[in-house]
Amino acid sequence: MRRIYLDNAATTPLLPEVKDFICRSIEVFGNPSSPHRVGEEARELLELARENVASLLGVSPPEIIFNSCATEGNNSVFISLSFTGRRGNVVISSIEHKSVSAVARELGRNGIVVREAIVNREGVVELEHLESLIDGDTLLVSVMSVSNEFGTVQPVREIAKLCREKGTPLHTDAVQAVGKVKLSLEGVGYATFSGHKFHAPKGVGFMYIKEGIFFKPLLVGGGQEFGYRSGTENLHGILAMAKALELIYEDFEKNTERLRHMRDTFERLLEERVPGVRIVGKHAKRNPSISAVIFPGKTGWEIVESLSQEGLFCSSGSACSSGEVIPNEHLLKMGYSEEEATRMVRFSFGLLNNEEEVYEAVERVARVL
Ligand SMILES: Cc1ncc(COP(=O)(O)O)c(C=O)c1O
Repeated sequence: MRRIYLDNAATTPLLPEVKDFICRSIEVFGNPSSPHRVGEEARELLELARENVASLLGVSPPEIIFNSCATEGNNSVFISLSFTGRRGNVVISSIEHKSVSAVARELGRNGIVVREAIVNREGVVELEHLESLIDGDTLLVSVMSVSNEFGTVQPVREIAKLCREKGTPLHTDAVQAVGKVKLSLEGVGYATFSGHKFHAPKGVGFMYIKEGIFFKPLLVGGGQEFGYRSGTENLHGILAMAKALELIYEDFEKNTERLRHMRDTFERLLEERVPGVRIVGKHAKRNPSISAVIFPGKTGWEIVESLSQEGLFCSSGSACSSGEVIPNEHLLKMGYSEEEATRMVRFSFGLLNNEEEVYEAVERVARVL
């Protein structure tokens, strides 16, 4: 049976060009910090990668800090706050990824209060509520660019404007936005990224840290990455990540159109074949590659397991503990019932999927239901 992978929001396969590129660049082994010629060769490539990433995002090269992944980036941004010695609050949306919400809560131990902005039924943060939470003691506002669960695009531009007016730094977890929606870092203080979400290898990511903004590193030592992230850089990973980003941006319109077409076809066919399905955020602005579907009759967990046996790989919106399905806490916060919050399945499309797989995927879903 042909395997169909529709879990690209969890991780993506490498693009073939990125694979080739890794094979070609693997010979470069120098440590970018070494002062001799071998190190210099590695350093030149590293800085070229930084320039490319910066230019694609419209920022300056020293504002790009390479690291291991978005979890590290998100933790670094929040833990940096604890070095300010200030007490106060942080404002996050109620649907942030755990690498944001968990570390925000950790700060609670240091007397920093976490305030959560309401997200509506469509999966979009309520601007007015968010604004009402920001005050003179707000150390940071953090709202993801795109929801990893529902694909909904958050109003980061408007939030950036608000934060500018109030003089509050803004962080955005941009993991699910890369190559899918036009990203603007204007007014953003910190942004975090993970390579494996956009067809680059795992174990490599980067942070955007706006020049001049407060930042204390999590990792100290050799002073790599302008002193913002010590540790020898993952050179091959970084080069491959910069290559993947370049390829994705080269054909941005074409790629996003393909993804949108696959997602829309999938949802249209699914609605025809499986009466009663509901798509979360259908009327909101969405990343073109994610489809969060609430099914009638079965839990998301059961569906994902059955689909896995049918060779279709996707993700359940809820966890399972000791045989019991735990409702998706974000759906609950958005106003869905407990039952609905156990019935979500996320299908996410990537650049290596094709239309034929979309048709076949709907057939398999219809079969297991
Ligand atoms: C929105 C978002 N933020 C952060 C992360 C964490 O990324 P990583 O596991 O690569 O650190 C993910 C991964 O699923 C994500 O979707």
